[in-house]
Amino acid sequence: MSRQITSVVGGSAVEGGDAHADLNPSDLGDVVLEYGGVDAATARTAIEAAAAAFPAWSRTTPWERSTVLDRAGTEVLARADELGDLLAREEGKTLPEARGEVVRAGQILKYFAGNVLAPHGHLLDSVRAGVEVSVTREPIGVVSVITPWNFPIAIPAWKIAPALAHGNTVVFKPAELVPGSAWELVDILNRAGLPAGALNLVLGRGSVVGPMLTTDPLINGVTFTGSVGTGRGILDAHAPLGRKVQLELGGKNPLVVVDDADLAVAVECLVQGGFGSTGQRCTASSFAVVTDAVHDRLVEAVRERLSRWTVGDARGAGVDMGPVVDPSQLEVDLRYLEVARAEGGEVLGGELLDLGTKGHYLSPALVLGTSSTDTINREEVFGPVVSVIRVSDYDEALATANSSTMNLSAGIVTTDLATASHFRRSSKAGMVMVNLPTAGVDFHVPFGGRGDSSHGPREQGFAAIDFFTTSKTAYTAPGTPTS
Ligand code: UN1
Repeated sequence: MSRQITSVVGGSAVEGGDAHADLNPSDLGDVVLEYGGVDAATARTAIEAAAAAFPAWSRTTPWERSTVLDRAGTEVLARADELGDLLAREEGKTLPEARGEVVRAGQILKYFAGNVLAPHGHLLDSVRAGVEVSVTREPIGVVSVITPWNFPIAIPAWKIAPALAHGNTVVFKPAELVPGSAWELVDILNRAGLPAGALNLVLGRGSVVGPMLTTDPLINGVTFTGSVGTGRGILDAHAPLGRKVQLELGGKNPLVVVDDADLAVAVECLVQGGFGSTGQRCTASSFAVVTDAVHDRLVEAVRERLSRWTVGDARGAGVDMGPVVDPSQLEVDLRYLEVARAEGGEVLGGELLDLGTKGHYLSPALVLGTSSTDTINREEVFGPVVSVIRVSDYDEALATANSSTMNLSAGIVTTDLATASHFRRSSKAGMVMVNLPTAGVDFHVPFGGRGDSSHGPREQGFAAIDFFTTSKTAYTAPGTPTS
């Protein structure tokens, strides 16, 4: 029998529920673990547990909360190999990518352990003589954390750590495909000293527990990373409730390559940004905008690089790219390739691979001869697919890059500082990368996009406090007695 895990509500395991198997996308015969999906009533119990834990947790000192996060961060870092192996096994990114993600989660926990100790308030003189004004930060209350499958430990960490650091309590629902990494993170945080109910794990189908986790009256805020469609649904449901909502949705991210680019840098940015993590990142470089003078040389160099690109079992040695996560994502990838062909694109690669195990293996696909109005350049694929648009010069490249409506990240490859600066200032994206892949972000600075890509305050780093706290402005009259 495979390993069993459960939801965790009010500090206790929840037995029962409808049976789910967590399958290894590199080898569908390998059941990573099994768990019971909870019903809406159990989700409600989790919300009540978080609400009951809130008064005491919100009154703990920053030092107490910092200590829990720091201890959890230490354990995550110490177990990076083991947790990385689990992550690669259940999600399908390669071992180095998975281990790197676990390390990032550990660093995030450590960062917020430190961040909460920094001063967050102001004390000012009023415009009225003698009156003092204080501006302080308070937690918002019970927060729903809903996360996608593509970063099974880093995204939960970058939502849960600041939520807890600032005194909120949490109901956490990870994607159905990656319960193992989520369970480990919750277990580590609970053993690090969280009181029962401060962090609850709800495993189950989004369609069953999602509505409760986004609209229950005890929920004070929802932070969600996932598809544009689901995000919009959460926003619509919340509009009449007037609560805080933070959404990180899709990305359609351009990588611009201009005449003066260093081609070796361009190839690495395109290959790592486009095909790293099997292209399953909202920050992936999903379309390249290349000036005429370098287009053919770049395409040739990328083809050459991809001819040495190994697709295989996520945990295999020397593998550059693991499998697609599941059959429905594979179907989406193949459908977009078909549409691209039908609209006149030339698809190189993008073939199903038989590697001996039952896994969803797709070779990296480069789609040539596309234009900015083609479907492949308008919609997020979320797979190992990069389309290429040929343009005449930098001005056309900039306009094409800015034609995206999901402006999360945008990159440029250039050896000219003036061009780099112009692009940095003129890009519509929330994040700009110069001579770097559009994916791969730091934990201590804000993360987020513009257009249809994000909604609400930014995530991560020094920006995280904006969503996870609400400010209080208090006036004190002169001569107020102390007793
Ligand atoms: C990264 O590029 O390092 O879902 C992080 C995603 C993003 C995270 C990307 N929210 O792909």
